[in-house]
Amino acid sequence: MPRIHPLPDLLISQIAAGEVVERPASVLKELVENSLDAGATRIDAQIEEGGVKLIRVADDGGGIPREDLPLAFARHATSKIATLDDLERVASYGFRGEALASIAAVARVSITSRTADAGHAWKLDAGAPDCAPAALAAGTVIVVADLYFNTPARRKFLKSAATEFAHCDDVLVRMAQARPDVAFSLSHNGQVKRRLPATDFRGRARDLMGEPFLAHARAVDTEAGPLRLSGFAALPAYAKPSRAEQYFFVNGRFVRDKLLIHAAREAYADILHGAHHPAYVLFLELDPAAVDVNVHPAKTEVRFRDARGVHQFVFHALQRALAEPLAAARTEVMPATVPSPAITPTLQVPSQSALSLREPDARAYLDFARQAFADAASTPPTAATVPPAPTFQAEAQDSPLGFALGQLQGIYILAQNAQGLVLVDMHAAHERVLYEKLKAAADAAPTTQALLVPVLFAASARELACAEEQAEALATLGFAIAPAGPQQLAVRGVPALLAGGNVENLARALLAELAEQPASRVLATRRNELLATMACHGAVRARRSLTLPEMNALLRQMEATERADQCNHGRPTWVQLSLADLDKLFMRGK
Ligand SMILES: Nc1ncnc2c1ncn2[C@@H]1O[C@H](COP(=O)(O)OP(=O)(O)OP(=O)(O)O)[C@@H](O)[C@H]1O
Ligand SMILES: [Mg+2]
Repeated sequence: MPRIHPLPDLLISQIAAGEVVERPASVLKELVENSLDAGATRIDAQIEEGGVKLIRVADDGGGIPREDLPLAFARHATSKIATLDDLERVASYGFRGEALASIAAVARVSITSRTADAGHAWKLDAGAPDCAPAALAAGTVIVVADLYFNTPARRKFLKSAATEFAHCDDVLVRMAQARPDVAFSLSHNGQVKRRLPATDFRGRARDLMGEPFLAHARAVDTEAGPLRLSGFAALPAYAKPSRAEQYFFVNGRFVRDKLLIHAAREAYADILHGAHHPAYVLFLELDPAAVDVNVHPAKTEVRFRDARGVHQFVFHALQRALAEPLAAARTEVMPATVPSPAITPTLQVPSQSALSLREPDARAYLDFARQAFADAASTPPTAATVPPAPTFQAEAQDSPLGFALGQLQGIYILAQNAQGLVLVDMHAAHERVLYEKLKAAADAAPTTQALLVPVLFAASARELACAEEQAEALATLGFAIAPAGPQQLAVRGVPALLAGGNVENLARALLAELAEQPASRVLATRRNELLATMACHGAVRARRSLTLPEMNALLRQMEATERADQCNHGRPTWVQLSLADLDKLFMRGK
């Protein structure tokens, strides 16, 4: 057995590097974090051969004074904390004083830096005895060359240059998401791969996630005491087969935290089913003392002092943002500058008696239709000559989904809004509206509507038994169903919201589901499933023809309903085809 002996410094650093410098992307992350800690407003990263040959990061931050340069490479030397108290409320990315020492143990590293008050820059190669004067306008340039040159075993684990660069790109994207106020660029083998000008969070999200993400995203911004959640969360129509578009930041630090991912997943649970993953960029801010960042060598995991509180807060904030009804949501559904479409004289003005809309809706719609019809009748309009109808503009603000034009094949509603054409999946939309209403009614004890004439139907033994055993659950859901003979069931009451539907089908579907899985004790947890079944059966079937006022009523209900933009299965309930989209179809303006 060999004797115990202290390890040489270089080996100690190489061991530490094993944790900190997993691959080239980890080097990039540490360097960019240092630049941000130094107050940089622009950071330029150059990568060669996936980062194995070279990683160079230049910033315009505060720089390092000449006397401190040797300390930058020393282990456990940092300018960022001094006491345990500092560590417990650390707000900088760095705090260990370990990154540069670890990197210098497995690569050839040099720092060139100039502070604001220095006459010129100084350069220090790791391992060299002294600094040398150098040319640099301001800030710091760190060059890391020949990664793992002295630890060939590590080098073998690296993937292709393209893969390693992709990881570097991921790192840069994460840092850039968190700091839109800083300009970034990233190049690989001399080619610029990203150029990100300083902007705001929305601008950065657009640059990094793309316009389709933003178009489907709800803005989140909720504060509760010391907690704040902000960012963007895409609606389920934009869900992805992988988690690649999920970004969570805690006090500006990208983290992969099970608790936060779980809270987000839960917030989507009611609107996103199946194998799809939501997309979001979310920033959680809280008192640095309430979160421990010193639990993982790459600092990608954190520990919350009040894990439960954080989970609840994130869940509720996100759920609320996703549920906000269309009319109130802060998405860009209604850009203010879209031209108003021309309205043709063939527009039907429904008579007052045909209206079954809620009163204010009905009046608004009538006013709009009259005005539009009057405008259209006096001068045959073209897109160019018709001035925007003021009524339409005014109403459009409150009616993002516009007004119905007609029905297509009994499946889709066609409507026009200020942007162009809106297509609505009638059944899916109605199902969602009903589901939300049923949930609200169930929360407030559902009102049962007694049927004047009970609906009788021949029932199987199983259905009869189920109706008896589950009488209580059925009552809770708003049904009054009882045997009316040895082979017959009578429905004497249904939830008021479903009174107009096919009572027999509804009752059968519900009994089938209850027989499958009795609900006596689990009603609370299964309630929403049962309500979904009810909504599906209560919703207008495809092929049923609706009147224009009925269609408009549905559009207004959708606008007022939480989560109305997707059906219970996460599919969209409506899509927008803008005039520009339509112009493209007809190659207008080409
Ligand atoms: N780009 C930079 N501009 C200014 N100072 C820098 C820069 N990079 C490093 N430094 C200085 O060098 C010190 C050591 O950096 P290093 O990354 O090794 O440690 P750290 O950032 O303090 O902690 P950690 O190991 O957690 O990253 C920093 O504390 C900082 O003072
Ligand atoms: Mg650092």
